[in-house]
Amino acid sequence: MHFTANPSNVHDATVSVPGDKSISHRALMLGSIAKGSTDISGFLAGEDCLATLTAMRAMGVRIEQTGPTEIVVHGHGLHGLARPESALDLGNSGTAMRLMAGLLSGQDFDSQLVGDESLSGRPMGRVITPLAAMGADIGSEGGRPPLTVRGNTALAALDYVMPVASAQVKSAVLLAGLYADGVTCVVEPAVTRDHTERMLGAMGVEVQTSGHRISIQGGQALKSCPVRVPGDLSSAAFVILAAILSDNAEIVIESVGVNPTRTGVIDILQAMGADISLENARLLSQEPAADIRVRASELHGGPVDPELVSLAIDEFPVLFVAAAAAQGTTRFSGIGELRVKESDRIAAMSAGLRSLGIEVDESDDGAVVHGGQFSGGEVESFGDHRIAMSLAVAAGSASEPVVVRDTAAVETSFPGFAALMASLGLNIETGTA
Ligand code: S3P
Repeated sequence: MHFTANPSNVHDATVSVPGDKSISHRALMLGSIAKGSTDISGFLAGEDCLATLTAMRAMGVRIEQTGPTEIVVHGHGLHGLARPESALDLGNSGTAMRLMAGLLSGQDFDSQLVGDESLSGRPMGRVITPLAAMGADIGSEGGRPPLTVRGNTALAALDYVMPVASAQVKSAVLLAGLYADGVTCVVEPAVTRDHTERMLGAMGVEVQTSGHRISIQGGQALKSCPVRVPGDLSSAAFVILAAILSDNAEIVIESVGVNPTRTGVIDILQAMGADISLENARLLSQEPAADIRVRASELHGGPVDPELVSLAIDEFPVLFVAAAAAQGTTRFSGIGELRVKESDRIAAMSAGLRSLGIEVDESDDGAVVHGGQFSGGEVESFGDHRIAMSLAVAAGSASEPVVVRDTAAVETSFPGFAALMASLGLNIETGTA
């Protein structure tokens, strides 16, 4: 699949984006080990979360899809999962694999976790190391998938200082901690998304957070509760940027998750001059949500605060596009984690922007983007959903048409992306070649 995007201009609109990916994964996993039925609304029915849904069903959990974004999980309690008959295929999803590794470490059965080519190249040592220290036995191909998890019902609690700021690692250790004897603590080097802690809390589990230290006592039961999933800010970011780059559009994106551990993208864009405001702030289940109003704006470059990196970790591809469209130079630093996402996102965005006539200087853990005018051309997504969508948004402001190659992965996180952007006025066509 590919996109052909032509120079175009988005117009005023009120829209919504699909549900939050991180929260949807967690609702399925935690709902499965809770007692009672978890009603999920606003679920992201994208490929990544559907892989988690299929995996939980393969472990005997009855999960009904009662509407396009409505799911009911009939939980089996903490010790109710059953041995899957075959390997669990988690597709493209790092979140599914890493969280599942934690969840499966404390089971009374063995399991195998596999993924697609991109996932098979991603580092799993970051979860294997702490889980092994708790007593789990996880085999891998030199620290990469497939993973073979030998369940151990006698996990020991762990006090773990994480070397990388990763919500996936934190969540894997907390999930294993539910099955461990004693209190498991994780210390993160920088604040990362706290959806696991919030959802566990809503399900009656006591999770203590003190600064960067999060603790959980093993053996606590989860009680089901309804989960209303807000729109995914990581998906909204593409709409936000399209509005910013437009001639004079004003767009409202309704009911988007604005958990403060995720809003770095808004802070960074506002610091670059973007006109973004939050309205109707409220809680959806345990998560902050708001309507986001964004207007066309002139952006300017500058240094991006490295303190915000873990709060905007998935939005750097789109922030590279913002930097390329800004006046002056934007300096990103401390973003080395981008090299181990669905693709090497520093390399992928640098290559894509260069193909569109933008000057980018790359370093190991950063990049300097020199603002300019996008030309037409052909760019690669490297099979990475966020690279594909970021470059498609850039293409709307280009001087000539742009072809974005290998866009099928957009379905992992943002089903209907091209149609939504087209409804806003972005001239984008999906081709199958
Ligand atoms: C996620 C955490 C982030 C993010 C990913 C989703 C999660 O990964 O990049 O898309 O749901 O926990 P890291 O925590 O490994 O940075």
